[in-house]
Amino acid sequence: MQQRTRIAPSILSADFAALGREVEAIAAAGADCVHVDVMDGHFVPNITVGPMVVKALRKHTTLPFDVHLMISPVDPYIPAYVEAGADIVSLHPEAGAHPHRSIQLIKSLGKKAGVVLNPATPVAVVEPVIGDIDLVLVMSVNPGFGGQSFIDSQLGKIAALRKMIDASGRTIDLEVDGGINPDTAKKAVTAGADMLVAGTAVFSGGPARYAANIKALRG
Ligand code: DX5
Ligand code: ZN
Repeated sequence: MQQRTRIAPSILSADFAALGREVEAIAAAGADCVHVDVMDGHFVPNITVGPMVVKALRKHTTLPFDVHLMISPVDPYIPAYVEAGADIVSLHPEAGAHPHRSIQLIKSLGKKAGVVLNPATPVAVVEPVIGDIDLVLVMSVNPGFGGQSFIDSQLGKIAALRKMIDASGRTIDLEVDGGINPDTAKKAVTAGADMLVAGTAVFSGGPARYAANIKALRG
């Protein structure tokens, strides 16, 4: 039987002046983990939060922190995010010359490792590391900003990864990030996703709406 779809709200769409309270509110509203988008103004054209913010948020919830690193270089900063409280650390293979080494670094620190595929990144990059990873994150928008539209061509990639993961026999989450709303959530889950990142769709309407927003994404 298929598991309930897990929802990872992206705090990129939260009120940054009240992040602690926002994290508490999404936890109370039924979120499965907290998706933290880390951007450096170099790998992607936007800048967000460093490890100090992750550390400050850690005491506001026991939910796992799903930290999406959109930074280059990535290796020098992995230990700091782990120390700050990351449970899952995901990186883009384009962020460094040695993604296999980056994955091993995350694992050596006792955390789950994820690989993120940009819309133009082929599924083939996952194959050589399928035995090492705990999560694949498919970007259904180009990374950098919330509020963009879901790129439908990524559905085929999700389906191909579903097959690859099932054939591996390993427990690997298949997460989709970008432009997720109740409609695109259904498409992504039908294609094989089991975890959805959502910023705009979760945080719109303010805290009183979070539980209903999350429920709507589970379908
Ligand atoms: C984009 C980020 C996403 C983004 C999703 O670079 O990785 O997590 O915040 O935002 P929405 O759900 O608004 O598309
Ligand atoms: Zn993200």
